[in-house]
Amino acid sequence: MKYKRVLAVETSCDDTSVAIVKEDGLVEAMLSANQDDVHEPFGGVVPEIAGRSHSEKLIPLINKTLEQINYKWEDISGLVVTSRPGLVGSLIVGLVTVKTLAWTLQKNFIGINHIEGHIWAPFVFENEEEKVEIPSEFLSLIVSGGHTQLVHVTGVGQYKILGHTIDDAAGEAFDKFAKMMGLGYPGGYVIDQKAKLGNSNKYSFPRPMIRTSTLDFSFSGLKTAALKEISQLSMEEIKNITPDICASYQQAIVDVLVSKLKQAHEQFSNIPISVTGGVSANSLLRSEVAKWAHEKNLSYFFPKLKFCTDNAAMVGFAGIQKLKKGELSPQTLGPSPRSLPEDFSR
Ligand code: KG4
Ligand code: ZN
Repeated sequence: MKYKRVLAVETSCDDTSVAIVKEDGLVEAMLSANQDDVHEPFGGVVPEIAGRSHSEKLIPLINKTLEQINYKWEDISGLVVTSRPGLVGSLIVGLVTVKTLAWTLQKNFIGINHIEGHIWAPFVFENEEEKVEIPSEFLSLIVSGGHTQLVHVTGVGQYKILGHTIDDAAGEAFDKFAKMMGLGYPGGYVIDQKAKLGNSNKYSFPRPMIRTSTLDFSFSGLKTAALKEISQLSMEEIKNITPDICASYQQAIVDVLVSKLKQAHEQFSNIPISVTGGVSANSLLRSEVAKWAHEKNLSYFFPKLKFCTDNAAMVGFAGIQKLKKGELSPQTLGPSPRSLPEDFSR
């Protein structure tokens, strides 16, 4: 079956996103609405508010995305939606909307694993100059607010998990630290900015599990260490040390991520690497990975900044590749808070 372009919907957490993606990964249109302002006072995502906000925003966003490039439903060959993992109340809004559209418009649809979407994010593009050749296999480090995984990718739907976090995700470590520092939510971007003005050697934070032989990660000890540093300080004192402590904390996270990526890479001979997910927007992580890859003469891939955090384009690209292979989802597909066993092998 031919699929020229799909309309994709992402509502797994707190971003409502709609995109129209062609079979080679070209993003013809993408509109997203984030809910940071409504969740900010709570220091994290409130599931009920997230679900309600998706249900208000999704249909108008779908209409606007189609209008933006003057497409009608006849121009869309299939539909893609994130169906797992995520907040069930958020996933269900995208899923029910897409299933209803698929039913009434008589189009095929597929439910995609959100993490699989992140895996393909480095390969979507908005103009021909940004297009890169997709390697036949690569090592993907997926680092976001909800996930930290090292995956060996050998094709669409062919994913082997090499390691993952045993507690907090890397993005969660940034967000929890930002919350205790009074820097708002989500915190990764702010810490990245503050760290640019600080000295990363000023505070000594642990590098959890950096020397273990497994490819698993742990970040929960880091926030406990940070809390110890600041618990006796006044708000004024915290403000004064913010650049240095942010730089030191960020360096610890990046050291662990880069070290595990290198360790995983040793298992393969010269395999290309990719770093993706919200935390892949981090400037220190990007520069350290790029530096190492240059030294080793490795091919490396990062998503464009707008495709690092949650977006429908990456989900659409994963979905259209699967639809082209003949994969479809049934109308009985439901949301799942977790990945399914068939999504990744171990
Ligand atoms: O991929 P994403 O949008 O959501 C999940 O799938 O979880 O990632 C969001 C995460 C948040 O934890 C946010 O703090 C982090 O990405 N993030 C960053 C940066 N920009 C976003 N972390 C570090 N540095 C950044 N520049
Ligand atoms: Zn994500």
